[in-house]
Amino acid sequence: MNTSTVTPYGTLPPASPVAARKPISLPRLNEMRERGEKITMLTAYDATFAAVADAAGVECILVGDSLGMVCQGLPSTVGVTLDTMRYHTESVARGVRRVQGTSWIIGDLPFGTYQESREQALRSATVLMQAGAHMVKLEGGGWTTETVRFLVERGIPVCAHLGLTPQTVHALGGYRVQGRGDSADRLRQEALALQDAGASMLVLEMVPAALSAELTRALPRCHTIGIGAGHGTAGQVLVMHDMLGVNLGKNPKFVRNFMTGQNSVLDAMSAYVRAVKDGSFPDNALHAW
Ligand code: KIV
Repeated sequence: MNTSTVTPYGTLPPASPVAARKPISLPRLNEMRERGEKITMLTAYDATFAAVADAAGVECILVGDSLGMVCQGLPSTVGVTLDTMRYHTESVARGVRRVQGTSWIIGDLPFGTYQESREQALRSATVLMQAGAHMVKLEGGGWTTETVRFLVERGIPVCAHLGLTPQTVHALGGYRVQGRGDSADRLRQEALALQDAGASMLVLEMVPAALSAELTRALPRCHTIGIGAGHGTAGQVLVMHDMLGVNLGKNPKFVRNFMTGQNSVLDAMSAYVRAVKDGSFPDNALHAW
């Protein structure tokens, strides 16, 4: 049968794979990877946009601490608190349940809520898991591996984050490309250590395309999700406001405005899903690094 699916947010095209989608889980993401299907991820921070992303077929919704910038108007993610992340994670989880309830929800651990000790990380992760997250994300390299292992051993799936890590923007000296030259080797070692510690996903932000493709091949058990990292990763993520063209600042050059030529947010998100799956986004030519 090839019928359209009507959602409260618009009508999905007849051939949409979403209508029949089962809830996303780690085994389902592994199956996608095995058959070479790209994983799609978008940020969302409230019930409505999360429901639209779910309806559009986005597999993973990241309740990113980028909400500090796009929702709260903060200058960086450093000021975001755990209580704010709990509130937005709960809202997103409610929204996803309203439509199909199939997307995998990732809660971002904010700055200062996991750096002190593994126990502090477990307490913070528990707050986000109880708010409705299926996985937590944390930023950082070698020093995070024992924390990742501690959480994974206790049943909390973890997404790591390497390359440009916005919570340490002040230490990095700005929003710059990472993993060029000598620092590439460190990044390789950190990525392997994170997979070994049990991280099942790894965001690679603003990393050279060749390096992220190499890491993807080297990490069969940890799905690489790129942002400004070329098209060789297992999946892609964008900040929702950027891909809808409603960013208050300047869009990074690797972002595409998916609202262009579309009539609704549902159409724009569906176009993003199609473009990631068919490999037409991202365009490696836009990654000069
Ligand atoms: O907080 C966020 O939105 C993120 C993405 C940029 C990956 O970490």
